[in-house]
Amino acid sequence: MNNIILCGFMGSGKTVVGRELAKICGRRFVDTDELVEKKQGIPIKAIFEIYGEDFFRDLEYQICCETAELKNCVISTGGGAVTFERNVEALKKGGKIVFLDADFDTICDRIGDSTNRPLFNDREKARALFDERRPKYEAAADITVDGSMAARKTAMTIASLTR
Ligand code: S3P
Repeated sequence: MNNIILCGFMGSGKTVVGRELAKICGRRFVDTDELVEKKQGIPIKAIFEIYGEDFFRDLEYQICCETAELKNCVISTGGGAVTFERNVEALKKGGKIVFLDADFDTICDRIGDSTNRPLFNDREKARALFDERRPKYEAAADITVDGSMAARKTAMTIASLTR
C-alpha cells in the first residue's frame, strides 16, 4: 500500500498538484470528494444542503477506508478529511500523507469568488478554520511541503521526496 495522499486546507492545491504528481509518477489519480459525489450521486454542496455536514463526514470516512485498498495511487483528500482521527487512521493504512502547506492569502487568491465550498463562504470564518486546522494537518502528515508554489514545482518536490 504505497499511495501518496495529499491533505491540506481548501485551495491548497491538492487536486491540481495531485493530477500533476500522478502524471509525473505514472500513478492513477483519485479524489475523495469525487468518490463521495459519485457514491451519493449529487455534488458536495448539495449533500451539505440536503443532509448536513455529519452525513457528509460519514460518507467521507467510508471513502477514506475504501482508499486504503488502493495501490500506487495519488489520492487527494477533502480539506476536512485528516482533521478527523478516524480518517487519518484509515488513510495511513494505504500510504504516506503529504501536507500541502499553503499560506492563507494564496488560498484566498486561488479560491476567488467560487461558491461551491460550503465551508468557505465567509473569509473571516475560513481564516479561523484555517488556524484551527493547520496543526492537525501537520500532525497527520508524514511529509510537509510548501503548497504556495506553482503546482508543477510542488508536484516535482513531492515526487522527489517520495521516490
Ligand atoms: C471541506 C473541503 C472540501 C470538501 C467539503 C468540505 C472542508 O474539499 O471536502 O466541502 O471541510 O474543508 P476541498 O478541500 O477539495 O475544497
